[in-house]
Amino acid sequence: MSDRNSFPADFLWGAATSAHQIEGSPLADGAGPSNWHRFSHTPGRTRNGDTGDVACDHYRRWREDVSLLCALGVNAYRFSIAWSRILPEGTGSVNAAGVAFYDRLVDALLEAQIQPVVTLFHWDLPAALEDRGAWLERDSAEWFAEYARVMFRALGDRVGMWATLNEPWVVMNAGYAHGVHAPGHRGWDEVPHVSHNLLRAHGLAVRAYRAERGGGRIGIVVNLEPKYAVSERAEDVAATARADAYMNRHYLDPLFKGTYPEELVAMFGTTWPEFPEEDFRLIGEPIDFLGINYYKRSVTCDDPDAPPVRARDVPQPGLHTELRWEVYPAGLTDILVWVHDRYATIPLYVTENGAAFADPATVHGDIPQDPRRVAYLRDHIRAVARARELGSDVRGYFAWSLLDNFEWAEGYSKRFGLYHVNFETQQRTPKASAQFYANVIRSRGAVVSDE
Ligand code: FCB
Repeated sequence: MSDRNSFPADFLWGAATSAHQIEGSPLADGAGPSNWHRFSHTPGRTRNGDTGDVACDHYRRWREDVSLLCALGVNAYRFSIAWSRILPEGTGSVNAAGVAFYDRLVDALLEAQIQPVVTLFHWDLPAALEDRGAWLERDSAEWFAEYARVMFRALGDRVGMWATLNEPWVVMNAGYAHGVHAPGHRGWDEVPHVSHNLLRAHGLAVRAYRAERGGGRIGIVVNLEPKYAVSERAEDVAATARADAYMNRHYLDPLFKGTYPEELVAMFGTTWPEFPEEDFRLIGEPIDFLGINYYKRSVTCDDPDAPPVRARDVPQPGLHTELRWEVYPAGLTDILVWVHDRYATIPLYVTENGAAFADPATVHGDIPQDPRRVAYLRDHIRAVARARELGSDVRGYFAWSLLDNFEWAEGYSKRFGLYHVNFETQQRTPKASAQFYANVIRSRGAVVSDE
């Protein structure tokens, strides 16, 4: 059967960004500093000492960026809100100018018939809250719910789709276990507390949304990686289960099954606390959708020298992106089907998918050619179609990213954009992948199966 009709008319075709990666002007109009502002200004934390001070200058060029979305033909745009623009101290007094920025953006999107999909926390936390202990502190759930409530009241009449958190696993793993993201901690004993407080924060924000009678939908975004054992050896199979528990089930089990995976408790031993039962009721507050970010798979082997997970990725041959992530579209089908089967009958969205490839020098007309990104998008959109055929309830796909942007610790060295950004002049130029994606959207996905 042809894939021609695999995407329904109401399928969301979107592009995604996040505040700190594109906005720039981090302290403008009364905003407070964020953890990432502080982190990137600390010597040695980011490649070339890059910061988000200018980024894509989206804070001032947002109108132009809405027109880029229109040119793509997307019907949805996923972006995030900089908490420290709204509450410069993290809690307490609200900065009206910060709220007004997103207010105008939402209005412009709606006028362009683009549905806003708002992420409340995409890693930039007010520095004032980092000083109060950030996600190690149980109160962080209340801080987050207070901020969420401000945004629900400000935009809830126009925003119909909210994500509480983006990728709690990365916040925990990169920020608190490996120290490569803000706040730069290396403390495995912090892991259970950070994960648990992030999940409680999510649950409290969901409750706040229901209490505000928000008429739209609320969910969470997780990054998932299917884990495949490198061999059938019992040690490798067990290591793969641990790696899967650590990354994937770590968040999904408490969200949908009311418990942490038993491998986690075994791995962390006595440092994994007995959390109160009522916390799991909070974390398990029913949500309306699950967002899944997919970039790669992992082929896993046992590694006794890598506690606490004691597992390691085994490099694979074949095409890799600039981040050395293996290109493996079938993993997207697998993970979408797995989530649907194991957990959720709720709608799923691919909230991020894309690739960093060095832009080749070839240009046709004025269009930079990025054939590997085009192929990546085509093959992954096909993988979504396949997952839908296999029964997974996927209702949208968001390309990461609209623009080349500040790729966290990698600074500006890794380009994910559909639009090339010249960071000297801020000129945006559509890449061949932008034209390809526009064709995908125009044909409602049919072009991915036409080749
Ligand atoms: C994801 C992040 C996003 C971007 C992509 C490449 O983990 O959510 O901000 O950095 O990776």
